[in-house]
Amino acid sequence: MDGNGRWATRRMLPRVAGHKMGLDALRNCVRRCGDIGVNVLTVFAFSSENWKRPIEEVAGLLDLLALALAREVPLLQAEGVRIHFIGDRSGLPPKMQAGLAQAEALTSGNSRLVFNVCFNYGGRWDIAQAAARLAAEGQPITEASLGAATALAHVPDPDLVIRTGGEHRISNFLLWQSAYAEFHFSEKLWPEFDAQALDDAIADFNQRERRFGKTSDQVRGAPHREAA
Ligand code: FPP
Repeated sequence: MDGNGRWATRRMLPRVAGHKMGLDALRNCVRRCGDIGVNVLTVFAFSSENWKRPIEEVAGLLDLLALALAREVPLLQAEGVRIHFIGDRSGLPPKMQAGLAQAEALTSGNSRLVFNVCFNYGGRWDIAQAAARLAAEGQPITEASLGAATALAHVPDPDLVIRTGGEHRISNFLLWQSAYAEFHFSEKLWPEFDAQALDDAIADFNQRERRFGKTSDQVRGAPHREAA
């Protein structure tokens, strides 16, 4: 959800105002996903590296998370959305940790849309915590066991990863899980990313041919010679 800061700066507003508009855009995106039958939505709300931002911006994002817990979670519950928070919770204030657990427990019976909010998350953190857990348990480290130990093991790998704000990089998001994802880069700043923009991204995705290592002929079911 990149571009909140630029959206605010262009309007001579503090960066936190952009994050507030970003929360509105996120609410609309969750609704649209539920309406069009997306099963899983995972968003990057705060990275392991975002602590390096100015203290007032970090405080603003933590306040926004607290606000979202109080104001948005009842709406998610009413709309049949199940929320999970993904990331290193030990780095968050204890009261906030309790709020995250409460929101997850409240919505745990919902299945219309699984909504993963990555907060204090990094793809490298996830791979490292998964490997450390397996090592501590004396388990062998394989692709299957490592994948099952990651923080997103409760959902399938993403089909589509969208980055807004015109940047073309992954910035430590879903490093393990996006191995075969399709990427869509939008020039729109996140607060401007509306239902139409989401539909456009999905239409773009639907044009792609996903080969998962196979050839185009194989994927299309064209006749081919077996390997000798
Ligand atoms: C990146 O844009 C965005 C963030 C670091 C925060 C994303 C948060 C939200 C959309 C609000 C939802 C929040 C919660 C707590 C659920 P940027 O600030 O890097 O934008 P820039 O590249 O224009 O500076």
